[in-house]
Amino acid sequence: MRLERVAAHVPAGARLADIGSDHAYLPVALMARGAIAAAVAGEVALTPFTAAQRTVHESGFAQRISVRRADGLGAIMAHDDISAISLCGMGGETIRDILEAGKAHLSGRERLILQPNGGEPPLRQWLMDNGYRIVGEEVLRENRFDYEIIVAERGAPVAYSAQQLYFGPLQLQARSPAFLLKWQRLLRQKQRVLSHLARARQALPEAKVRDIARQARWIAEVLA
Ligand SMILES: C[S@@+](CC[C@H](N)C(=O)[O-])C[C@H]1O[C@@H](n2cnc3c(N)ncnc32)[C@H](O)[C@@H]1O
Repeated sequence: MRLERVAAHVPAGARLADIGSDHAYLPVALMARGAIAAAVAGEVALTPFTAAQRTVHESGFAQRISVRRADGLGAIMAHDDISAISLCGMGGETIRDILEAGKAHLSGRERLILQPNGGEPPLRQWLMDNGYRIVGEEVLRENRFDYEIIVAERGAPVAYSAQQLYFGPLQLQARSPAFLLKWQRLLRQKQRVLSHLARARQALPEAKVRDIARQARWIAEVLA
């Protein structure tokens, strides 16, 4: 379901670079549906790279999906004429670092379809700082995990508030059932941590405790 929802944000006929592709399931599924024109599956690690090569070979799409062993956006070549980049199933900071390190490979015309596992605020911060506007957002739950999808495109500069960076500017507006459930769960978790800290009088840096308390306050305000 997670990759299905990611797939839904890939524009029809896109030339997709799926970075950290692992088995290359996303590009192969999209190609099998005739939803994309071409793809690059990039992988840094040998075992998933070999798995991607196998999936693509067995799918019969080897002419249209290039599997490349490379670090991050280094898998993208100028002649690929990429129009969409997906980075899924990694921490938000890792995705941010891959984007930052690979800026030279971005033309600015690509749609970014990002599915971070946590660490969303620093990723949104990078998008804002680098001229991207968030054009789509989703929260979904699968196998007892909450996942987020962030879709971004280059556009006029935007200034997101600290709360918008924390919750997601569009999710904050839409307040979907999955979004509310995610933050209800996180509020309970943060309240448990705070009451444990208060009881145990553990020596956690004061700034850290204040930060958790601030997050709990923001969440409570959003859910109120
Ligand atoms: C958990 S898997 C996610 C696979 C797939 N994208 C998904 O969402 O199901 C993360 C993959 O990213 C790859 N990866 C991590 N850092 C990378 C980088 N800098 N460049 C390319 N691939 C990377 C890992 O080798 C791993 O196969």
